[in-house]
Amino acid sequence: MSKVFLISDVHVNYAANWKWLSEISGHENDILLVAGDVSHDISELARCLQMLVAKFKHVFYTPGNHDVWVMDDDKQDSISKMEHVLKICEHAGVKTRPEFLENIWIVPLFSWYDSTFAISEPLTKNDIEELKGWSDLHFCKWPKGFKPRDMYERNEDFIQSFDLMDASPIISFSHMLPRRDLLPPRAELEHKFLAHVVGSTLLESQIKRLGSTVHGFGHSHVNKDVVIDGVRYVQNAMGYPKERERYSYTPRLKQIWPLEEGE
Ligand SMILES: [Fe+2]
Ligand SMILES: [Fe+2]
Repeated sequence: MSKVFLISDVHVNYAANWKWLSEISGHENDILLVAGDVSHDISELARCLQMLVAKFKHVFYTPGNHDVWVMDDDKQDSISKMEHVLKICEHAGVKTRPEFLENIWIVPLFSWYDSTFAISEPLTKNDIEELKGWSDLHFCKWPKGFKPRDMYERNEDFIQSFDLMDASPIISFSHMLPRRDLLPPRAELEHKFLAHVVGSTLLESQIKRLGSTVHGFGHSHVNKDVVIDGVRYVQNAMGYPKERERYSYTPRLKQIWPLEEGE
């Protein structure tokens, strides 16, 4: 039986991150879930996914915010960039849609953030000033009328059409956070506006409807492994080299299925 490993936020534009990933070995029989933020550079993103496909039995991926940044190409918006990324995945053999493999469902979920986590945390004047530096506001270019809800609409097709009733366990994953309590409380946040730019309650409601046993996520670069309301939520972000130095951790692949001893 294959083991399922999770990683997110590999940000391979950092040489140290690319080096660590390129040295992974011994996973020819395993499944890897890549929960977004590979690179804003599409050729680098493609090279990274192709490299991972060669190292694992199956690789699943869902886009992160950095992956849909449009930095140099005025003709493209973030949705067309995302479609381009999904095409690259298809050609590389990276799975971006749900699949039933070896008696488990693996379900990648599209996600984006809104303010549904932060209803009781309105933005102050300071927050609004600070938020102006948030990179997505500069590098994501949305088509007219785009709403975060549109990302979740993309998941509805398969949530509604797949018969998941007798298929357990279900391992889902997204880039964004499905719950506010997966982020530290406002008082502990360095950037007080964060609850507005990390996730959505829409995501949690889709996870609940799926009946996920385990849900992997990324984006906040704060690693977690907690069970809430019967769902195990796991983040295993590689993050930036400076974050690893600051918080003293080393990159690793985290096994999320089958459950490891003591987890
Ligand atoms: Fe990230
Ligand atoms: Fe992110």
